[in-house]
Amino acid sequence: MSSPSSGPDQTCSSLQHYAIAIVKTRCPRQKVALAREAARAWHAGDLPASLSSKEPEIPRQPGRPDKPLLLSPREMPKRKAGSEAGLVALIHALVHIELNAIDMAFDLIARWSDTSLPVEFLDEALKIGVEEAQHFEMINAHLEELAISYGDLPAHGNLWDAVVKTSHDLLARLAIVPLVLEARGLDVSPKMIAQVKAQGEHEIASTMDIIYRDEISHVAFGAKWFKFICAQKNIDAEDVFHFLVKKHFKGHLRPPFNEKARQVAGLEPGFYEPLSISRQTSRDSHKKR
Ligand SMILES: [Fe+2]
Ligand SMILES: [Fe+2]
Repeated sequence: MSSPSSGPDQTCSSLQHYAIAIVKTRCPRQKVALAREAARAWHAGDLPASLSSKEPEIPRQPGRPDKPLLLSPREMPKRKAGSEAGLVALIHALVHIELNAIDMAFDLIARWSDTSLPVEFLDEALKIGVEEAQHFEMINAHLEELAISYGDLPAHGNLWDAVVKTSHDLLARLAIVPLVLEARGLDVSPKMIAQVKAQGEHEIASTMDIIYRDEISHVAFGAKWFKFICAQKNIDAEDVFHFLVKKHFKGHLRPPFNEKARQVAGLEPGFYEPLSISRQTSRDSHKKR
């Protein structure tokens, strides 16, 4: 691999090659550097989207450093909100989420770089990848200020499952990653930011606020292209969304929803309300009567 300042990597002759290299590398800093290098080359007009001479090998799992230890959500220690240890655990979890988000953005580019969609699709996907790299770097800097390194604590081991399950279908990927997982991030972020502020950690809170605002645009990317593809296929976007979420996502969507942020992103209640756990619970209790 080239160093970040030495120009486009010789082995990366297309945006797709960059995306695969980013997902493959085990080094988080290298992922960040390559994401920026790819964006520079793409915007300079030096890079084709993909070279289809032979089917490229896209890794099923992303490259990861030796640590952190990955645990199932049930095995993860509970975070105590408001405590110093709780803050450290929260920031570590956010670093882990942003590292996964870099790989998720570039896995999407790697798999769908030769799509027949307008080129804005790749422009926007790449912008998201670069923003995730930025988020990782910003939040990791706060972790280091707290005298902890990424990997010192265990982390959620199931974040990549949604990517594996939706590797075959762009609509399914858009439904689950931006429109369920990143939209969930919009629901929980304002409360987390308020908690961090209440602990007097204003710089961390303002970084989280920048991330929150960027994440609205990531959900917007999902909503825009999900609706675009559905319109192209002449299928009902909400119906397809309900079908795909039931098929690929375990469990129901959990309210309360951040309706305002979701609306700004173009994700209307007709998409998520029918899948809400409260809606299911009230339906079940009606049935029992
Ligand atoms: Fe992010
Ligand atoms: Fe994101």
